[in-house]
Amino acid sequence: MSIDNVGIVGAGTMGNGIAQVCALHGLPVTLVDISETALAKGLASVVGSLDRLIKKGTIGPADKDAALARIRTSTSYDDLKDAPLVIEAAPENLELKIRILRQLDGLLAPEAIIASNTSSISITQLAAVTARAERVVGMHFFNPVPVMALVEIIRGLQTSDATHDAVRELALKLGKTPITVKNAPGFVVNRLLVPMINEAFFVLAEGLASPEDIDAGMKLGCNHPIGPLALADLIGLDVCLAVMNVFFAEFNDSKYRPCPLLKEMVAAGRLGRKTGRGVYTYA
Ligand code: 3HC
Repeated sequence: MSIDNVGIVGAGTMGNGIAQVCALHGLPVTLVDISETALAKGLASVVGSLDRLIKKGTIGPADKDAALARIRTSTSYDDLKDAPLVIEAAPENLELKIRILRQLDGLLAPEAIIASNTSSISITQLAAVTARAERVVGMHFFNPVPVMALVEIIRGLQTSDATHDAVRELALKLGKTPITVKNAPGFVVNRLLVPMINEAFFVLAEGLASPEDIDAGMKLGCNHPIGPLALADLIGLDVCLAVMNVFFAEFNDSKYRPCPLLKEMVAAGRLGRKTGRGVYTYA
């Protein structure tokens, strides 16, 4: 089955970024979310990002119009039923993702592929709730999706070679560089990245330095493009906490305990850029 159009579940930060990249590379996209408000917000974000690319001269106004014309939005899963590939980009919650995968499995053609953009949840476990485990795979994009070059392709225990190869080929078509990773909590990148971010919250909580100095330390001392606390705000503190919770539960190792300050900020609704306030405050 050739991947000539893509369904996406979830119009949030990752879902709308993936929709934009697919549409810019010529693929019709059906973007589904539970509310018109979420879809409108997702589309507005695509428009803003395309405008940035125009300003930079990466694309022209006609490319923007063509990309937007390729994105169809819907609040009904039924509109996904003809998609050869659906990428699930819902919030990082196991029960929710299981519900979505079951729903997609009952709806899609038997040969269709379901990919999850999960940050840390087991692809093997998600695949097991479907009747097509060999056609379930992880396709992990990075934020901001239009800018970041990587896609981690995660093979669950039962993911077939054909499924792996099909999504790898798609990642290349989208101008991304894929790496292939075996299923394990957080895969490769988040396994390394998120514990570092969590440690930055411990450093902050211990009062060792100001947020600005912690971030400047890692920017200037390690050549990171932004510091770990600013990156947490970009990723979403709730996502960082969800990933740490998966590590803590799955590895059963205290080195992965989520920092209490991170938990506090999430409890307060300070989720980062998307809520206007995380470690820092945004206009
Ligand atoms: N759409 C289009 N273009 C964008 C964009 C977007 N959403 N966001 C940034 N850009 C472009 C800008 O236009 C700019 O282009 P230019 O350099 O050609 O002019 C370039 O990216 C840099 O943007 P800014 O000048 O606004 O700001 P920065 O220099 O700080 O760059 C950044 C922003 C690219 C986000 C950079 O800070 C960065 O690379 N940060 C690290 C990002 C990162 O590590 N992401 C991975 C997170 S982990 C993850 O996503 C996994 C998940 O599971 C948790």
